[in-house]
Amino acid sequence: MFKKALLALPVALAVGATAHAQTPPEDVLQGLIDQIDSTYLTQSEMNIMMMPDNPALWTGMDGEDLFHTPRGPNNVSMEACDFGKGPGVLEGAYVELPRYFEDTNRVMDLENRIVHCMTEVQGFDPDDPAVTRRHGSGSDHMQIQTYIAMQSSGMEWNNPLDHPLEKAMRDAGEGMFYRRSGIADFNCHTCHGQTDKRIRASVLPNKDVGEEWTKAISWPAFRVGHDNVRSTQHRIRGCYWQMRMPRINPDGDASIALMSYWTDAARGQPAILPDMKR
Ligand code: HEC
Repeated sequence: MFKKALLALPVALAVGATAHAQTPPEDVLQGLIDQIDSTYLTQSEMNIMMMPDNPALWTGMDGEDLFHTPRGPNNVSMEACDFGKGPGVLEGAYVELPRYFEDTNRVMDLENRIVHCMTEVQGFDPDDPAVTRRHGSGSDHMQIQTYIAMQSSGMEWNNPLDHPLEKAMRDAGEGMFYRRSGIADFNCHTCHGQTDKRIRASVLPNKDVGEEWTKAISWPAFRVGHDNVRSTQHRIRGCYWQMRMPRINPDGDASIALMSYWTDAARGQPAILPDMKR
């Protein structure tokens, strides 16, 4: 009996290890904090303490159900969908987005790929609320995005730049990041190009410090101030609003180009998924 239990233990540990290859997000963040002295990374002691109970983890669990349940007019689950590493393969898929997809001849981010999966594979009408509601912890999108992204926690950002369109999108994103425009003549670098720059109480991340930038681009994240899990597209929209620019189209190439550039800027740094932000 005792012997049997002893034998079972290593097996249980081994199974556990393969089922959870991802590093818990709080450990990823702590690893970064141990590496550099950064006011941005350490600005919210409360968030750091709350990360093991991040409400986004529940959102991701809801997403797990949605992902594996046959849905839509075609009654198929999202396991039939390719997020870049083959149908149903999620581990490490998110840190390699945006990427080029042959079936659409487009570079796509996670949100656009989920739309593609819902409409083309599951057969949802493009006007169905499952497709159109993109924001809020209660939306299918945020739940599915969070679930997929979580399968890359602790893995290094590594969006491929082999296809000419992947390179072109990354370069277009760089242009967008540095181009000054709008009534305030801001570019992204105005607010994200220095260490310890603040707007009121918020310490802003520096794009040129990889350890800070990986946290900056780690979405979905639970935004405590919004009491909701938010996406990358939501963050981009917010920063363009701060620049007093028109609203960016989440289905267009511009937002994806910006993501291609900002992911390339965090290349090699571990993703914190899901994260928690102010
Ligand atoms: C006017 C200043 C300003 C400009 C210009 C600006 N941002 Fe931001 N950005 C912010 C602020 C403030 C936050 C943090 C929001 C908060 O803490 O509530 C932020 C947050 C972010 C984050 C997430 C970091 C985090 O911890 O929440 C990213 C990524 C980001 N911005 C990217 C961009 C990009 C890309 C552009 C250009 C399209 C841009 N920003 C332009 C002020 C700016």
